[in-house]
Amino acid sequence: MSRTGTAKPVLSVRGLTKQFAVGGGRMLTAVSNVDLDIRPGETLGMVGESGSGKSTFGRAVLRLTDPTAGSVVFDGQDITHISQRRLRPMRRDMQMVFQDPWSALNPRLRIGELITEPIKLHLGLSRSERADRAEALARRVRLSPDFLRRTPSGLSGGQLQRVCIARAIATSPKLLVLDEPTSSLDLSVRAGILDLLAEIRDETRMAMLFISHDLATIRLISDRIVVLYLGSVVEEASAEGLFQTPAHPYSQALLSAHMPADPEVKLARHLLEGEVPSPINLPPGCSFHTRCPVAIGACRTTVPQPVAVGSTDHTARCIRIQDGGNLISRRETA
Ligand SMILES: Nc1ncnc2c1ncn2[C@@H]1O[C@H](COP(=O)(O)OP(=O)(O)OP(=O)(O)O)[C@@H](O)[C@H]1O
Ligand code: SF4
Ligand SMILES: [Mg+2]
Repeated sequence: MSRTGTAKPVLSVRGLTKQFAVGGGRMLTAVSNVDLDIRPGETLGMVGESGSGKSTFGRAVLRLTDPTAGSVVFDGQDITHISQRRLRPMRRDMQMVFQDPWSALNPRLRIGELITEPIKLHLGLSRSERADRAEALARRVRLSPDFLRRTPSGLSGGQLQRVCIARAIATSPKLLVLDEPTSSLDLSVRAGILDLLAEIRDETRMAMLFISHDLATIRLISDRIVVLYLGSVVEEASAEGLFQTPAHPYSQALLSAHMPADPEVKLARHLLEGEVPSPINLPPGCSFHTRCPVAIGACRTTVPQPVAVGSTDHTARCIRIQDGGNLISRRETA
């Protein structure tokens, strides 16, 4: 059980699917039948290779793109099909931080105006109240209030991302979706941003969906992690559970590549080299079978369902878990 216990989820997603029409009557499946819950104060990490559907999922749960199928329940309300007009007042409770702070901020506005834009839109405070809030928010994200009078042009990437975070938390949202928020930043400033986010989450009990292709980052910030492959969740576990006992062959290969000191790593890295299939023509059966080192004949025809792995909060979609044939490194060292 995560440290957030059994509180009612802020976000509850069931069967979420997003397809794009890509011409010639073909459909690209970016997100396929995803189920997940995020509770107050919890950070759910979502990890997967480029093109696995992470951003599309993040956008679909906030209704920045319309889901093709499935449901999104936010704070107890089904928002899957409600109009953008009805969504507008709810937006103060669900905010997003993007990868690239340079393009997320209007370069002509001052930092103070940028930070208070959502307050103006959703809370309508007076000018002086907004100025006080801007100063408090700047301090909260550890930016000197001197920055409030400046425009984005003179700020570093890390400082700009702090501005984006201040903007995102200005209306005290219940859910923050962060799409690769540290990927464009120097390594030296990433840890500071992650610390800041964890502090804010613990103070405010907001829920976070933290999207990243980088396992080291995901591990630092997440309570639970979902591993995405070609739009599907192949494994879900506590951060500790995933790193200690990754069960899906894809997760094992990802994790091995993340730990370069391990002598088995070269093998695992090699295992991940195969071509990722096109999301326009998803392979039948288990979509990982074209790259999986332990695939058997049945993997080409059977769609794996989630199977419990050890503890209650850990599941993976692999038909070989029951007989232990899912372990890729053990296979080689046996
Ligand atoms: N508007 C769109 N129209 C058509 N295809 C799209 C569209 N948006 C995304 N896709 C496709 O959906 C799939 C998932 O893309 P998405 O951007 O969600 O992946 P991602 O995991 O965020 O990748 P990255 O790590 O590179 O950001 C990709 O194959 C992508 O090309
Ligand atoms: S179901 Fe088969 S192909 Fe898929 S991960 Fe498990 S062993 Fe590999
Ligand atoms: Mg993305």
